[in-house]
Amino acid sequence: MRIPEKGLSREEIVRTLEAYKAQDLPWQSGRVMAYVYDPGKEALDTAKQAYMMYLSESALDPTTFPSVMRLEKEVVRMVIDLLRGDDQVVGNMTSGGTESILLAMKTARDHARVTRPGIKAPEMILARTAHPAFHKACAYFDIKPVVVDFDPESFRADVEAMRRAITENTIVIVGSAPGYAQGVVDPIPEIAALAQEHGLWCHVDACVGGIHLSFMRKLGYDVPPFDWTVPGVTSMSADMHKYGYAPKNASIVMYREKALRRHQIFSCLQTTTYALINPTILSTKSGAPMAGSWATLACLGEEGYFKIVREVQDATARLVEGVNAIPGLRVLGKPDMCMFSFTSEEINLFQLAEEAKRRGWYVQPQFSTPISPYNLHITMNQSSLSCVEAFLADLRAAVEAVRASDTQIDIEAVRAQLNALLEADPAGARDQILALGGVSGTDLPDSMVMINCVLECLPDHVAEDLLAEYMNELFA
Ligand SMILES: Cc1ncc(COP(=O)(O)O)c(C=O)c1O
Repeated sequence: MRIPEKGLSREEIVRTLEAYKAQDLPWQSGRVMAYVYDPGKEALDTAKQAYMMYLSESALDPTTFPSVMRLEKEVVRMVIDLLRGDDQVVGNMTSGGTESILLAMKTARDHARVTRPGIKAPEMILARTAHPAFHKACAYFDIKPVVVDFDPESFRADVEAMRRAITENTIVIVGSAPGYAQGVVDPIPEIAALAQEHGLWCHVDACVGGIHLSFMRKLGYDVPPFDWTVPGVTSMSADMHKYGYAPKNASIVMYREKALRRHQIFSCLQTTTYALINPTILSTKSGAPMAGSWATLACLGEEGYFKIVREVQDATARLVEGVNAIPGLRVLGKPDMCMFSFTSEEINLFQLAEEAKRRGWYVQPQFSTPISPYNLHITMNQSSLSCVEAFLADLRAAVEAVRASDTQIDIEAVRAQLNALLEADPAGARDQILALGGVSGTDLPDSMVMINCVLECLPDHVAEDLLAEYMNELFA
């Protein structure tokens, strides 16, 4: 499309956008079991109104828009309180979990530059269950990721492996509360104690779980310790746009005390332009996410979150039990909140995801590691509350359909085929691999089955390269 010579009418624009949107998954149906966090109609409408009130106000300059700073400070303080931080704990709103993690890791690195100037090649210790955003931080800020294993039964980080991985270059250790994939909280007190013992920074990634787990704790559920009451935790991330149920883009990065956060803040006076001073990565940024988050917290109140958390936890328990009751499926680990994954030794799970999609459901494929099987992930949220039984019935039918199909894809055969291709021509196998995955041109693929089979089998670095190239083509 080109910029139209003459502007379109508002009606035309809305009609066109509605037509575009028809291609997306209908998330409000409750049938999209990932990516979605629905606060319910009243809170969503309120948040939208607040969001629109601040769409054009910029958080770049608090002297011009002091109310945006006020909203940010109030949201951050409400979340710090929820996570049981004292008044020394400080934080900022960011554009999402990734930005919060990037900032915390940059801050840890810059803090180490001052406090441990001898370190020239800083290292981060993290479990394989930690979010890819930490690897992105390593790539962006020149930190070496030192990945350790997790317990393959519980999916909790292996703290002894973390201890063994510490070197004189280690600056930071990471724990997740919980890790996204299996919804399991790491042993945060042990990880933080290890960090303290060695004078290291400890980051708790509570992006997906911080808010939900805190309300679970207040309701009396058995929640593993993960928040500011754990000694040795240096920084933390918690997302408003996930189980805080606020509109995107909204997350919070926090530090044990203000002196640590100083390394996060960037200022520049070396140019012809205005005095630039940014607490976070973005410079110009809309006040809308601050207002949207503030309105969501204010509208739901503790009572609203309690109701959501209780109902979502009940539904999750029914889901976990129901999935385990389907012959051939098995839930991995023991999820601490409302997200989990399941695997199968009997049927091809990528085909199962496709069968579920045919029945109107989205479940999210996740890949194997050397010590854990590939699986399908479910993030439970409020919009799926009334769908549990229908989903389980369709999942059972989908399992039977894959079992009955005479075209079940044998992942090991795909692996053998790929290995042969890579061995014959490591540099030139790209097109054949893409063809095997059923990828052609720059359109989004119709079916993800073969692509996922290929990604499951390729060595990580080959798959990463291929995905980056594909993405590059996709946005052409
Ligand atoms: C545990 C965890 N950390 C970090 C992130 C990254 O958050 P975002 O997608 O908002 O950047 C996610 C996203 O799902 C997550 O689950």
